[in-house]
Amino acid sequence: MDNGLTLDTICGDALEEMKQMTSQSVDLIVTDPPYNLSKDYGTTADNLDFDAYLDFTRQWLREGRRILKDDGTIYVFMGVRYIAYMYMIMEQELGLVFNSWITWYYTQGIGKTKGFSPRHDDILMFTKSNHFNFYLDPIRIPQKYYRRRNNMRGANPGNVWAFSHVHYSNKNRQMHPTQKPEALFERMILASSKEGDTVLDPFVGSGTTLRVCQQTSRNGIGIDANHPYIDMTRQRLKQPFDGFDSMDRRLTRVPNDLNDKDVRQAYIQNHIQWFLTNHADALATFITAVKDKYAHKMDKEEMKKLDDLEVKNNGNRISAT
Ligand SMILES: C[S@@+](CC[C@H](N)C(=O)[O-])C[C@H]1O[C@@H](n2cnc3c(N)ncnc32)[C@H](O)[C@@H]1O
Repeated sequence: MDNGLTLDTICGDALEEMKQMTSQSVDLIVTDPPYNLSKDYGTTADNLDFDAYLDFTRQWLREGRRILKDDGTIYVFMGVRYIAYMYMIMEQELGLVFNSWITWYYTQGIGKTKGFSPRHDDILMFTKSNHFNFYLDPIRIPQKYYRRRNNMRGANPGNVWAFSHVHYSNKNRQMHPTQKPEALFERMILASSKEGDTVLDPFVGSGTTLRVCQQTSRNGIGIDANHPYIDMTRQRLKQPFDGFDSMDRRLTRVPNDLNDKDVRQAYIQNHIQWFLTNHADALATFITAVKDKYAHKMDKEEMKKLDDLEVKNNGNRISAT
């Protein structure tokens, strides 16, 4: 990238590649490994014996722990079949520190006729030690009423994250069987790293993690054993950017009590700068919501400011003037 940051794409086995990496060289690991549910990824088998799968999990997590800096964080996606075992490995065997069990709730998925249709995957967040960074401001969720103490940005998003799968009609949809929404990775990366940090995804798939690193100014390292997915990732990183493929809809919420003109104007500027930077699509929705709620309170000058709010697609970013 021309900002001095790097995005490395490595085709190889996660464990073997991680073994080559320097200890304590990575700030954050965010990854979505194969769930051992017989998905067809190409050359890698996704149907190991129970014990063999746990051993594979144990080994790559051990390398992950070694590579992580002492103040680093790791987020791992997992389905219900193995997540309890993975939790045990992370906490009891590797001595990682549990922080959060996040549920990714999706409204659509496969149907079951005997039993309940699955509607969530989960993400385990552990840290390497008790000294870790967590950046709440960039991931806050606007509330019904703004709070000055929250810098007007809203509250903690909680540990249930609702996003639908990336639909086939989505312009960012890749030909990958388990592509995840960018907004999931955006939240984890913004919460647990800062610009210039290094993020590793040893099972990068279609490149979602690296795309988010690219747009949020992190260094990224992505590994995948299947060459077509590494090619896919490289292509994806070359595509022009006009917003992430998903967004928490609550971000276009406008609080009910922006009655003071100065507070309202500051809120709008803040909101665009903090939350809508990588969501060009959402800006118009937000401005409409502001007008619906507050047009009757605005004087000519304020209305004009809003009308003039210039959306600049400045490189990959939008900004308000
Ligand atoms: C669940 S997918 C990741 C999907 C990704 N999060 C995305 O949004 O596109 C898991 C990936 O791990 C890769 N994989 C499987 N076994 C691997 C191994 N031993 N080493 C590296 N990659 C592997 C598969 O090719 C697959 O692309």
